Amino acid sequence: LRDALLAEISAATTQEAWESVRVGIFGKSGRFRALQQGLGKLPPEERRDRGQVLNGLKKTLEGALESRRQELARQALAQRLEREREDISVPVELPPPGRIHPINQAIAEIVSLFAVQGFDVAEGPDIESQWHNFAALNTPDHHPARTEQDTFYLPGGKGEVEGEERLVLRTQTSGVQIRTMLDGQPPLRIIAPGRTYRADHDATHSPMFHQCEGLMIDRKGTLTLAHLKGVLTDFLRRYFGQPDLPVRFRASYFPFTVPSMEIDIGWSKQKGTIGAGEDWLEVLGAGMVQPRVLANCGLDPAVWQGFAFGMGVERLAMLKNGIADLRAFYDSDLRWLRHYGAAP
Ligand code: PHE
Repeated sequence: LRDALLAEISAATTQEAWESVRVGIFGKSGRFRALQQGLGKLPPEERRDRGQVLNGLKKTLEGALESRRQELARQALAQRLEREREDISVPVELPPPGRIHPINQAIAEIVSLFAVQGFDVAEGPDIESQWHNFAALNTPDHHPARTEQDTFYLPGGKGEVEGEERLVLRTQTSGVQIRTMLDGQPPLRIIAPGRTYRADHDATHSPMFHQCEGLMIDRKGTLTLAHLKGVLTDFLRRYFGQPDLPVRFRASYFPFTVPSMEIDIGWSKQKGTIGAGEDWLEVLGAGMVQPRVLANCGLDPAVWQGFAFGMGVERLAMLKNGIADLRAFYDSDLRWLRHYGAAP
């Protein structure tokens, strides 16, 4: 019987078969149970010897069952590992790569053209205090620029009480000038790309758009209007890839610069091309930082001097890529993105 049972145990090739063999031996109506029950009917002197034999058999069978169980578990694990093995030689199918959005592409180009002139990238928050967006930039409460720029105000704080700050979605990146001057010591040279917001929506205006701000501050007398003109002319000619691109500086007004100017590049309305032509297109606002703005940021205007400029990113990207409608930037039309987007 012993050998027969051991043979049964080693013949169990699955975990289920093993379980039924075990029940067949040690279960309630199993064969070992039957032998044990037979013990009671024996006379006491035989019962003792027989009991010892049965105990020995029990140990042997249990040992055999246990080692069989372990063996089956090992096999099951090995099978599972085999089944679930990754075939790392299978060629990978990558999804088609995306394209870089023309706005991000334009920002990257602008930033790198200023980086070669030593400008660092700076950032500020989209949700800005009125102070950073207006007051510190010499644009007091009732200044027309505050309404001209169709500001989005955030709920809360009426800004009616002295010192009470009302938050706005920044209408320009110029607040980063303020943050830069408050945070660091001149000489400063930064370019700050970012989102800006104005309540305005048509083919050439979007309630959210992008600007790049520039600021350069150094000792008074070392950084002049001539530098401003040189830096921006060089930038525009490189950005449009035209070494002779006509660039015109036209007197204008911004509260935070004096003198202020708007900068135009040559183009032909008729041909729709950038370069020498009959017409001019405005692409930048700029000027020498207004001394009051320096003072608002703790810089002594008798010691420091510099210039600032700001440009609309969409405008530059539209001109460079011949994009007619500003709204296309935000439509997420895949065909448009594939066409105008840059390769990653
Ligand atoms: N912030 C101005 C605008 O949004 C542009 C500007 C920036 C002008 C810096 C002068 C200096 O129109």
